[in-house]
Amino acid sequence: MAEHTTIPTYTLNDGTTLPAVGFGTYPLKGEDGISAIQGALEAGYRLLDTAVNYENETEVGEALRRSGLPREDVQVASKLPGRHHAYDDAIASVRGSLERLGLEYVDLHLIHWPNPSVDQYVEAWRALVDLQKEGLVRSVGVSNFTEAHLTRVIDDSGVTPAVNQIELHPRFPQEGMRAVHERLGIRTEAWSPMGKRNAPLEEDVVTTAATRLGVTPGQVILRWHVQLGSLPIPKSADPERQRQNLDVFGFELTEEEVDAISALGRPDGRLFGGDPDSHEEM
Ligand SMILES: NC(=O)c1ccc[n+]([C@@H]2O[C@H](COP(=O)([O-])OP(=O)(O)OC[C@H]3O[C@@H](n4cnc5c(N)ncnc54)[C@H](OP(=O)(O)O)[C@@H]3O)[C@@H](O)[C@H]2O)c1
Repeated sequence: MAEHTTIPTYTLNDGTTLPAVGFGTYPLKGEDGISAIQGALEAGYRLLDTAVNYENETEVGEALRRSGLPREDVQVASKLPGRHHAYDDAIASVRGSLERLGLEYVDLHLIHWPNPSVDQYVEAWRALVDLQKEGLVRSVGVSNFTEAHLTRVIDDSGVTPAVNQIELHPRFPQEGMRAVHERLGIRTEAWSPMGKRNAPLEEDVVTTAATRLGVTPGQVILRWHVQLGSLPIPKSADPERQRQNLDVFGFELTEEEVDAISALGRPDGRLFGGDPDSHEEM
């Protein structure tokens, strides 16, 4: 794919669209972080994923300004931390994100983790829905929600999250949650899409497909996401890998290759035991 070729998009359940691949910004910070994020925009990424807890919203806003791209051409997504779930705190939190980003609106705001023992995610969801009505947030979604968490916020508000951003990579392919999202009309977004330190870059099924297609193992993994309908947000600070990770629309895996990569999954394939029913982040 040539630089700046249009990336395919998904239409979300609220009528907005998102590019089929985004850019993960954790842990890019400081001047180096700004240049890496600006490099990603230059490579053609049009969706940036940040969070209050990444402490880099300022850098994301600065990279966007330095890129010179029109605001409406880039989508910025951020996340509400666990300590801001009470209704008024959630409203103030999103306003704080906008201030740090230097933006009038955020394209997508997610509840970062449900933190079920705190049990305030329903309140946090009401706040995001109200901010969407005000126009400060274009699309509202969640992250790390299970089917039970999703059902609760939908039943309470009548509003279905546009996106659920979950851990999803070949070691943990999330077949069950992908089916839940399909049924509810929620777009699956994948965090740690390569599998980070557990990325199966040397697994036979991946390297064989890479050789057949003349691409890199990383591109095979990201193409696997695309063919599953999962929206990956790979992070890379390296200009060449940033470019490669976006260049996944000019080749196709066979159904057998997709299934063989999914078969790398293991029940204990999570990167750090981030089961949303027990893992909490404030
Ligand atoms: N919602 C949540 O709870 C949550 C949790 C974790 C992460 N996230 C989001 O997901 C984003 C991505 O996750 P992640 O950074 O954990 O994992 P990842 O994107 O799966 O992996 C990133 C690592 O893979 C390397 N890499 C990138 N492209 C590569 C390629 N083509 N070939 C080989 N290595 C490659 C990167 O190194 P180089 O930089 O050297 O290329 C980096 O070390 C984060 O930035 C963040 O925005 C969300």
